[in-house]
Amino acid sequence: MPTAPRCDDTIAWSALQGHFQGHGRTLDLREAFARDAGRFEALAVQAPEVFADLSKNLWDGTTLRLLIELAQACDLPARRDALLAGEPINSTEGRAVLHTALRAPRGAGPFSDEVHGVLDALLAYAETVRDGAASGITDVVNIGIGGSDLGPQMAVPALQAFSQPGLRLHFVSNVDGHDIVPVLAKLKPESTLFIVASKTFTTQETMANAHAARAWFLAAGGTDTARHFVGVTTNLEAAARFGITRTFGFWDWVGGRYSLWSAIGLPLAIAIGAENFRAFLAGARAMDEHFATAPLDANLPVLLGLLDVWYRNFHGFGSRSVAPYHQGLKRFPAYLQQLEMESNGKCVDAEGRALGLGTSPVVWGEAGTNGQHAYFQMLHQGTDVIPVEFIAVKHTTHERAGLAPEVAAQLADQHVKLLANCLAQSQALMLGKTADEAATESAPTASKTLDPAVLARHRSFPGNRPSTTLVLEALTPRSLGALIALYEHRVFTSGAIWGINSFDQWGVELGKALCNQLLPRFASGDAAGLDASTAGLLARLR
Ligand code: F6P
Repeated sequence: MPTAPRCDDTIAWSALQGHFQGHGRTLDLREAFARDAGRFEALAVQAPEVFADLSKNLWDGTTLRLLIELAQACDLPARRDALLAGEPINSTEGRAVLHTALRAPRGAGPFSDEVHGVLDALLAYAETVRDGAASGITDVVNIGIGGSDLGPQMAVPALQAFSQPGLRLHFVSNVDGHDIVPVLAKLKPESTLFIVASKTFTTQETMANAHAARAWFLAAGGTDTARHFVGVTTNLEAAARFGITRTFGFWDWVGGRYSLWSAIGLPLAIAIGAENFRAFLAGARAMDEHFATAPLDANLPVLLGLLDVWYRNFHGFGSRSVAPYHQGLKRFPAYLQQLEMESNGKCVDAEGRALGLGTSPVVWGEAGTNGQHAYFQMLHQGTDVIPVEFIAVKHTTHERAGLAPEVAAQLADQHVKLLANCLAQSQALMLGKTADEAATESAPTASKTLDPAVLARHRSFPGNRPSTTLVLEALTPRSLGALIALYEHRVFTSGAIWGINSFDQWGVELGKALCNQLLPRFASGDAAGLDASTAGLLARLR
């Protein structure tokens, strides 16, 4: 497709700079709400399964209009259409990027026959594993790393309420043996299924752990490795060479961090079953359709991606914190770290030109309310402004576990506490507290001897700190699918504005290559040609 102009060469970019220098920089949320009674409604978006309150962000109608102009100037709609049509937009690897084809209904997307052929076989197999009485399987161990680990590792606990009782899922990723050892200690070979998940089937960590698992299996008296080891990969030959006879394939047009929808989702499919897995895909598909068809100013992934650009390149915010107020989403921030930072952590554009502007923010977070008792202090009173993304879930699903009525009543009460905490945090970030307000409040734990004016300054909050709140009705297979797809398209949007290739990851290669060069030096001790620091550390660690 034709080259779009660089985002910072567009008229819209200059207009945004002018707007920022004018009143964009000084926008005060408290005043904005006081001035405009309709601000919440005006900045609320209902996307499939996900409602978003964007009103506590440092933007207004003008910002939004200019950001949409920027999206148009950067050819976002054409770039999105090229993505969805399967054009080879991953230019450095000459590949299409078609994770959306994995959730298209039969007959509706590219490669439909291949996609649905594998999906049908995968789900049929997942059902046989779930039938513990017939399969004898009680424990499933996924061995993979990065995109071959983080997706299932995040989604399985998220959908715990929909999972097969009595079936335990484990995840091993790190080449550090301290990862696999405690897992193996819980297993019996005859009731364990190992899934070796690797797009390339060459990744050092995964291959090492697969060998460790097979050595353990045989040493512990396991027989029939063909039944107890299954592969998920695009490299069917390498899986066969490892000795795996049952393999589910996928394709080079599925990026690792976008692969949860493919056979990489096998652990999730085993946990939640075929019907729920199809609902998970359908939720993502609904978000795909929203992304493809909603007008830009009502298109949630587009708006979130544009907000990211606004914060990163105009406000200069270097990080974004994600706070899911649902314990099932405790691994969601880690999942987003790969999705966002591996996709958009780039310093050249798709043409290879130095960008000279900020790209991916640091994405980090922790399940609420735990984060409140750790780093929220910094969010409220630290010197950096860090936009926070709250994810609230209206209805619980833990009652599906069949709780006694008195326990269910207690947990219903806890859920209200959880939601109140979530709202209170976004409110506190925005409202803050002046030193005068602090001075008039009683603070029983505060020093009685310190100058009250000094104390009040310690107890004041700047406020005007931005946040977005996403609301799901319940955390279900369908809503989780939509939520993940929302983030995928948001990352695409900011990447498209920056003009980068969001689908390669050359930045992980150098470390891999140097690791391979260092490995023999651990045996030989040869430090010739190494810098003094690496040589000194090598000597110490041998
Ligand atoms: O970290 C680099 C990376 O290539 C990721 O993009 C990928 O998800 C991960 O390694 C695992 O790769 P594979 O699935 O080929 O083992």
